[in-house]
Amino acid sequence: MWTETIQRWQSKDGAESYEAERFHGIVGRVFHRAQCRTLRRIARLISAGTRVLDVPCGTGRMHPVLRDRGLRIVGRDVSEAMLRKAAQRSPGNGDTCLVIGDATQLPFEDCSLDGIFSIRFFMHLTSQERETILREFARISRHLIVVEYGCDSAWHKWRRAVRKVVMRLLGRRRIYPVSAPAEQIHREARAAGLRICGWRWTLRGLSESVFVVMEKKDSREATVDA
Ligand SMILES: C[S@@+](CC[C@H](N)C(=O)[O-])C[C@H]1O[C@@H](n2cnc3c(N)ncnc32)[C@H](O)[C@@H]1O
Repeated sequence: MWTETIQRWQSKDGAESYEAERFHGIVGRVFHRAQCRTLRRIARLISAGTRVLDVPCGTGRMHPVLRDRGLRIVGRDVSEAMLRKAAQRSPGNGDTCLVIGDATQLPFEDCSLDGIFSIRFFMHLTSQERETILREFARISRHLIVVEYGCDSAWHKWRRAVRKVVMRLLGRRRIYPVSAPAEQIHREARAAGLRICGWRWTLRGLSESVFVVMEKKDSREATVDA
């Protein structure tokens, strides 16, 4: 199902309909706004004028938030169609640069970026894939790494089971992202040489989405309240 979805995002139609399908209904809009608000608060921890990576950037949905903070954005995505949409969002003043390619191989020098953002991606990967990508993030980042995870709990498991039944009854096909318990998220960060310095929930209690803020173990501690 995830492979099918990736193929869809590679197509012009898939890229055109990505935001409309996910973020234009009432629930989608509330979720998108909550994500923007969360990201805005985290972005304040990174100095204006510095360069950050957004991977995968998709249609550049989060770029207005990063740009408002005064950050220079490098967007990377495997889909050319998605990058074309992201380019339409870019004001063309040189503060955004888009680079096609895979998230597991990042063509950037060690410690060359001030922050890395990865949104709506990790919940589709296996633990091993996440660790590989986190190691690559740790290599190229000088400062913070912000990754959106789906964080599991008994409540979220129950909610997801009910949702699955409702969706099946409605005859809707959906991708069910993979969530990870908090201990596993800590383990993955540690394995990549990172320390978690903050958790920010997108819609606490309602959604599994959490922005996990990480930094290298050897860097000065940043403080992010929960
Ligand atoms: C759910 S979208 C998220 C996009 C954006 N971060 C957002 O929040 O709207 C997932 C994106 O991951 C990209 N993608 C999937 N696998 C990838 C990979 N291995 N490397 C880079 N991009 C990938 C897809 O092309 C798609 O644009």
